[in-house]
Amino acid sequence: MKIAIYPGSFDPITLGHLDIIRRAARCFDKVFVCVLYNCDKKAPMFSPEKRLEMIRHAVAELPNVEAELFSGLLADYAREKKASILVKGVRNATDFDLEYQMAAINRGIWEELETVFLPACGAYQHFSSTMVREMIRYGQPLDKYVPLAVVEELERQKKADEDGRI
Ligand code: PNS
Repeated sequence: MKIAIYPGSFDPITLGHLDIIRRAARCFDKVFVCVLYNCDKKAPMFSPEKRLEMIRHAVAELPNVEAELFSGLLADYAREKKASILVKGVRNATDFDLEYQMAAINRGIWEELETVFLPACGAYQHFSSTMVREMIRYGQPLDKYVPLAVVEELERQKKADEDGRI
């Protein structure tokens, strides 16, 4: 059984991430989407629990995909899951340079841990969670960039803010 992990911060999940998850789900028997929340990124927009909830909604129709939270070393999570494959989406040469290094670091920690790169599909090549957070700050429509679960979460938050102000 080939078990793969697709790790990231997912703050929030984008359609680019979802495309990689769908494609990974066709390549492997089981895919764990792992929301890592110990990264040194400051001030996340969404709590780890909210990120997880949105991912779970977005992958609900994929039977061999599960999403979980993890705080720690990715290699430890992979061992815990008996997974020896990490999946990373690569959009451009900058991503590749970074991911190439991370793959070597992860193999240095556990030499059986392989990283498989999936090239981002052209339509999502310029998508990033950073870009989406910027769109949210400026109130831009998001349906082109993120799964419906994220749009609905933001609508809920907006309504709660408005109700709080009344
Ligand atoms: O979505 P991101 O922020 O680009 O994902 C980066 C992430 C979370 C995959 C990376 O920071 C990571 O693997 N963090 C876990 C800590 C770890 O295992 N570090 C060693 C490998 S670089």
